[in-house]
Amino acid sequence: MIIDRVKELRTEIEKHTVQNKEQLESFRLKYISKKGLVTELFDQLKNIEPENRRAVGQELNELKNLAQSKFQAFSTSLEQAAESDVTNAFDLTLPVVPNLNGSIHPLTIVRSKIIEIFERMGFNVSYGPEIETDWYNFSALNFADNHPAREMQDTFFVEKSKGEVKDDVLLRTHTSNVQVRLMERQKPPIRSIMPGRVFRNEAISARAHCVFHQVEGLYVDKNVSFKDLKDTLYHFAKEMFGKESKIRLRPSYFPFTEPSAEIDVTCFICKGKGCNICKHSGWVEIAGSGMVDPNVLENCGIDSKVYSGYALGMGIERITNLKYQVKDLRMFSENDVRFLREFESAN
Ligand code: DAH
Repeated sequence: MIIDRVKELRTEIEKHTVQNKEQLESFRLKYISKKGLVTELFDQLKNIEPENRRAVGQELNELKNLAQSKFQAFSTSLEQAAESDVTNAFDLTLPVVPNLNGSIHPLTIVRSKIIEIFERMGFNVSYGPEIETDWYNFSALNFADNHPAREMQDTFFVEKSKGEVKDDVLLRTHTSNVQVRLMERQKPPIRSIMPGRVFRNEAISARAHCVFHQVEGLYVDKNVSFKDLKDTLYHFAKEMFGKESKIRLRPSYFPFTEPSAEIDVTCFICKGKGCNICKHSGWVEIAGSGMVDPNVLENCGIDSKVYSGYALGMGIERITNLKYQVKDLRMFSENDVRFLREFESAN
């Protein structure tokens, strides 16, 4: 009897469960689709005697509604389960991956500190070209024509002059070229520091590199004396290396200064007692300096009878090595993050 079949199907549908989309689709095909069991029963309605047809029809409609509402409920609950799977995919108990901010390169830290100290003493900052002519790098700075620094072993030449005239184009070997450019275009007083990159034809090792950095200092005015140079360096050493620091000047020679001196500062590792870093002398060398040679002033169009000046030059790598005890120069250019991260909190 059709009515019994309806009852049977109702129980079946009420008990039905689905676990996934495939089972949901099977449910739809079995009960609701055009070829499904419920539709099949509707087709049999025409064989029912007319007086019962209405009642059976009603039963069938209820069965159809039941199947459809079950289908709706199943598909909603499957969708919700899928959503919560996505939420559960995030494990909120996992530790957070730290957001690394990067750090300032040690050479930049030291260069900024040098600039800051000199700026507070009234110096401004100047820059000059890295590709330079012989005149600015050597001749104007009073280097004799046969000075060994001009030789191929030190200098990277970009273009070597052919004739007698020295008009070579080269990579600057020091920042002293900026002194010349500055004096050429500006009348005294001049008080400037000049940081920059320099190049020398050296084999790369732990103690030497073909690219490194210097800071040049220049003060030209009336009555600038050696005492001014000493005071400036003394103040610089205390600011850079600590209040206890003392300086020592040793006579030296540079073509562009007369007299010339090399500057040592109390070894700040052993505080002057003697250690490996200062080779047990208690002193470490930090700069070259001297009174600007009158020839250099004249080469730049400055009257050496009216004006005098001092100049100084120091290696940024050298000072960074001393301050942070970096033993291998190559570390500065290799960009190994393990090395760079050591400076995250330095200032
Ligand atoms: N230019 C020199 C060098 O590269 C360093 C230097 C020494 C610069 C004495 C100066 C100075 O201004 O007065 O070795």
